[in-house]
Amino acid sequence: MSVNHSDMNPTPSPCVMVIFGATGDLTKRKLIPALCNLAQDDVLPKQFAIVGFAGNDFDTASFRKMLAEEIPKFTSAPLDAKLWDWMVERIYYVKGDFQDAEAYQRLEQQISEADKKHNTLGNRFFYLAVAPRFFSSIAKMLAQCCLSKEESGHWARVIIEKPFGHDLESAKKLNHELQEVLTEKQIYRIDHYLGKETVQNVMVFRFSNNIIEPLWNRNYVDHVQITAAETVGVEHRGGFYETAGALRDMVPNHLFQLLTMTAMEPPISFDADEVRNKQAEVLHAIQPLDPEEVLTNMVRGQYGAGMIDGQRVVGYRSEPEVAPDSNTETFVALKLLIDNWRWAGVPFYLRTGKRLAKRMTEIIIQFRRTPFVLFRNTTVKNLETNRLVIHIQPDEGISLSFGAKVPGSVMKLGLVNMDFDYCTYFGAEHSTGYERLLRDCMAGDATLFQRADMVEAGWSVIQPILDVWHALPARGFPNYAAGSWGPIEAEELLERDGRSWRRPGEEEVDKRGRAALPDRAGIIT
Ligand code: BG6
Repeated sequence: MSVNHSDMNPTPSPCVMVIFGATGDLTKRKLIPALCNLAQDDVLPKQFAIVGFAGNDFDTASFRKMLAEEIPKFTSAPLDAKLWDWMVERIYYVKGDFQDAEAYQRLEQQISEADKKHNTLGNRFFYLAVAPRFFSSIAKMLAQCCLSKEESGHWARVIIEKPFGHDLESAKKLNHELQEVLTEKQIYRIDHYLGKETVQNVMVFRFSNNIIEPLWNRNYVDHVQITAAETVGVEHRGGFYETAGALRDMVPNHLFQLLTMTAMEPPISFDADEVRNKQAEVLHAIQPLDPEEVLTNMVRGQYGAGMIDGQRVVGYRSEPEVAPDSNTETFVALKLLIDNWRWAGVPFYLRTGKRLAKRMTEIIIQFRRTPFVLFRNTTVKNLETNRLVIHIQPDEGISLSFGAKVPGSVMKLGLVNMDFDYCTYFGAEHSTGYERLLRDCMAGDATLFQRADMVEAGWSVIQPILDVWHALPARGFPNYAAGSWGPIEAEELLERDGRSWRRPGEEEVDKRGRAALPDRAGIIT
């Protein structure tokens, strides 16, 4: 069974997509494959064209040729030849410098030609797949050349990639500069985590299941864990990563998306601002950390050499474009409290890092223990608690663990699992994660894009941490081996509270069946 993209959403309108930085990785790895998937699912408008814009030496013919060679490497299924022929004949290229007004005239001319040829009704969106330093100057140029002007009923939108600022002040400045030349409705701040089906499903799962939502609060939930663990190192992005680090790279954007989806109040509709208001409220309710709390509730780490999947890998400081004495963190774990009626007193533990033991993004809802009274005079010593795991990637699904009686004359409890696996149930989707976001932008639905105030609210939570870390540079890096679960302090962060991170695979022992039950780690007697 395949998922119908058009279910809940308005239809995308005819348009031209202009990709700034079109010769970079994003275009061939994600954007064009995503457009092909949309075309395959018949949700891409027929009146559509793509104009690539970059400084590299291509023309339309050589750009098309390069894409024809590259795209098949990045699509999950072989490309349908007819579909590619359709796609490629609506791809154009303009060579030019992002700062050069004359290049924008050539761009304008190409957009107009594509508009006429493919009948795109004057609508256009600009995808800024470029280094962040170009964001505001491109927006300014677009305005000066009237390319972003909305007139006679046609629309013009701008998608901004992350990172959106590198601290609170720069994010505010960028918002200000963009809003000087564009309306907020024209700005689509993208976070690819929101393109993931499993992330979107958090909201659906919570608000469409009456057995879930009543339990989703401080009365029943002991704590929440959010983990985004990667096995890759910094790959070829050492230069960028040195200026970012794990905190900036992952927390105010991806992890906060997962956090707000998990913690938000029910919106009254799926209207973009209704949903985003609720997400923003969560960010505003996060208790600001004072410097003392930054030291106790935050852990940073950097990987040293180690083993990943049986292969020896170098430490962060030996990666290309990384300083040999770098103090940049590649791991971060933090404890946050959300000071509102629903979540008061429930800690949210977040962690993310590179070169960890397993690639895995998941949200854990750990429920409170039931009273022990009934088991007092039995052989049962301890009661495990219910745990809901929302697997975001690479496994996609939801599992709920609960206690069950192990068959036999002696009272023994086992922790067993109820599993829902996306792929088994719905079949594998051919998705890059960008389909939904591109489609929504073409349809004018900004629900899954970040609003200016949300970006600033996210940075406001992070800023005190950046300040303390700046004043007190990390000591003792590297402090975890590649292939481990991060520094020991991350374990201690939870142990201090009498808790522990979920060990991946912990519940999997339960799948072995009844015969294996009495010897398993999950058994509680
Ligand atoms: C990017 C970060 O935004 O997200 C990368 O810059 C990170 O450092 C990536 O690897 C993770 O995305 P995903 O979809 O692979 O979890």
